[in-house]
Amino acid sequence: MSELVKFSRQDGVGVITVDNPPVNALSPGVPEGILAAVQNAQSDGAVDALVLIGAGRTFIAGADIKEFGKITSGERSAALGLAEVILAIEDSAKPVVCAIHGTALGGGLEVAMGAHYRVAVASAQVGQPEVKLGIIPGAGGTQRLPRLAGVARAVEMCAFGEPIKASAALESGIVDRIVEGDLLTGAIAFAREVIQRKPHKPRDRNEKLGDAANIFAAAREQARKTKRGMMAPQAAIDAVEAATTLPFEAGIKREAELFRECLFSDQSKAMIHAFFGEREVAKIPWLPKDTPVKEIRKAAVIGAGTMGGGIAMNYANAGIPVILKETTQEALDRGIATITKNYANSVKKGRFTQSVMDQRMGLLRPQLTYDGFEEADIIAEAVFEGMALKKEVFGEIDRVAKPDAILATNTSTLNIDEIASTTSRPQMVIGHHYFSPANVMRLIEIVRGKETSAEVIATSMALAKKLNKIGVLVGNCRGFVGNRMLHVYLRESESLVEEGASPAAVDRALYDFGMAMGPFAMSDLAGLDVGWRIRKEHKYPPTIADALCEMGRYGQKTGAGWYRYQDGRTPTPDPEVDALIEKLRKQRRIITDEEIVERTIGALIQEGAKTLDEGIAMRAVDIDIIYIHGYGFPVYRGGPMWYGKATIQS
Ligand SMILES: NC(=O)c1ccc[n+]([C@@H]2O[C@H](COP(=O)([O-])OP(=O)(O)OC[C@H]3O[C@@H](n4cnc5c(N)ncnc54)[C@H](O)[C@@H]3O)[C@@H](O)[C@H]2O)c1
Repeated sequence: MSELVKFSRQDGVGVITVDNPPVNALSPGVPEGILAAVQNAQSDGAVDALVLIGAGRTFIAGADIKEFGKITSGERSAALGLAEVILAIEDSAKPVVCAIHGTALGGGLEVAMGAHYRVAVASAQVGQPEVKLGIIPGAGGTQRLPRLAGVARAVEMCAFGEPIKASAALESGIVDRIVEGDLLTGAIAFAREVIQRKPHKPRDRNEKLGDAANIFAAAREQARKTKRGMMAPQAAIDAVEAATTLPFEAGIKREAELFRECLFSDQSKAMIHAFFGEREVAKIPWLPKDTPVKEIRKAAVIGAGTMGGGIAMNYANAGIPVILKETTQEALDRGIATITKNYANSVKKGRFTQSVMDQRMGLLRPQLTYDGFEEADIIAEAVFEGMALKKEVFGEIDRVAKPDAILATNTSTLNIDEIASTTSRPQMVIGHHYFSPANVMRLIEIVRGKETSAEVIATSMALAKKLNKIGVLVGNCRGFVGNRMLHVYLRESESLVEEGASPAAVDRALYDFGMAMGPFAMSDLAGLDVGWRIRKEHKYPPTIADALCEMGRYGQKTGAGWYRYQDGRTPTPDPEVDALIEKLRKQRRIITDEEIVERTIGALIQEGAKTLDEGIAMRAVDIDIIYIHGYGFPVYRGGPMWYGKATIQS
């Protein structure tokens, strides 16, 4: 037997154990090992049934994603061989039971669905998350899942990629039994119960493949909305539909075609880049491996506004007690009311229970003083943006904080070194730049000042992970990486308007490109006055946005900005803005969608390249992750730098 797959016998049952830490991925050697074990067992007189189980913390958690890149680069043939292995499991004359703990995802669930039965522990999860990498299940998943779980469940799992819990898997027929106690013992007992039964092949089970036209139409519509611009969810729906219209073998062929189309697409390459990128950004090559990481046991946040409230929630969500300090009772009450409303919404939506909410609220300590700050391991500042105020607040923090506390600022644009200079310990000062809403958006730009210590950087990166965020380390300059690039992108958008495009046309072209929002709708949401204040502080030349602010049009919050908001949320073009633009614009010519995309995204890419040259961004992938997770850049285009490179190459 191979190193990766082991075989033993217990009570007349052959136990095949996949042992490929950390997650028992289907790397080369694993499918071959399973195949050999199943084949050998057919003639093994001491074995009447088989159990397939994972060693360590999980069942097979998926394919080896690096293999996909090898296929598209031609290094390996497209056939993974997995489909054949699964057929061999299914064709076994002796019943095969898969025993699932941890997760059975992607190829892992496909292997499990080749078996005649599946048992799982209550905490297990199963899923077909391939669409998150821009592909679809390629080893029969779209054909066997509807046969086991019905069409609606199969479409949902294959097209949207969210895993389901063991209880739901049991209810829908993916799992046959939930095992209490030891999984292997339970699986062997189950296998002994079914020894006398003739193995029932999942591929022959057609009872659940009824007329499902409505399901497909509804799923396509939902995917168009929630997975806008992505080809894999639509392909996954097509593949599941093939299960209902074609015999199994033809369905498998159709799935294989769709799988290849997706795998060789630019979208999947971009999404795989983004997947690895999320892991890559956590690595700081120049940081010594033995840099100590401080434990963060207590936190304090200053400012309970839009950002401070969300930041405090992040700490409470991670189980870290957090003080929330404000200047007035009114602002404090407002901040706490928003947090309470956000948590209550999550409870209403079933994300967690009331008792979890109570526990999190219990970790929050709202107050108007610095009491208890001397115990905080980290103090996160989120007061109004303005250098004078930041300096004043950091002066106060310096007086109350313990010597080894991390002092973090959420400033979006201000100079970290200047803020740090007002303290007696600039080595402890760092930027933790969250994105709005801070409790939802996963990105934190971690901004190092020139004196920030290695320990403070390492602790900040580890803290990001603990808060379930993606920390990206960047250098200190105006706007850091994300907002510095955003500045030129917005400026280019405004230039297009000055030359003849309407704000709505620019927004639509970029929305169609895949951005979560167009630049003008986004500016209205963020508040035009923020940029106005910054431009005034830095003495930038006046813009149309400044003129809008002078008219009291700050964006959504005042019911008007680049657009009008009659219902408070929906942008409608406004003749008053058209008139203003007409007065201020320099020329009027026809501007195509291509020009809009080329110039605005081009501006992002160029500025991104400058941040790399200057060492503000460490790697191109850092910029890509910042833009995907902080600015709504379409993940299926891989981030601006990846997109720039791909466009130049094509
Ligand atoms: N809003 C965003 O989208 C966003 C995104 C990233 C970063 N930021 C940055 O986060 C910071 C806060 O922005 P915001 O949008 O949350 O502002 P906000 O106006 O919503 O909140 C600021 C809060 O700070 C409080 N405050 C002011 N001085 C204080 C003091 N001395 N002690 C305690 N509280 C004090 C105010 O009462 C107010 O409630 C700014 O530096 C901003 O640039 C904002």
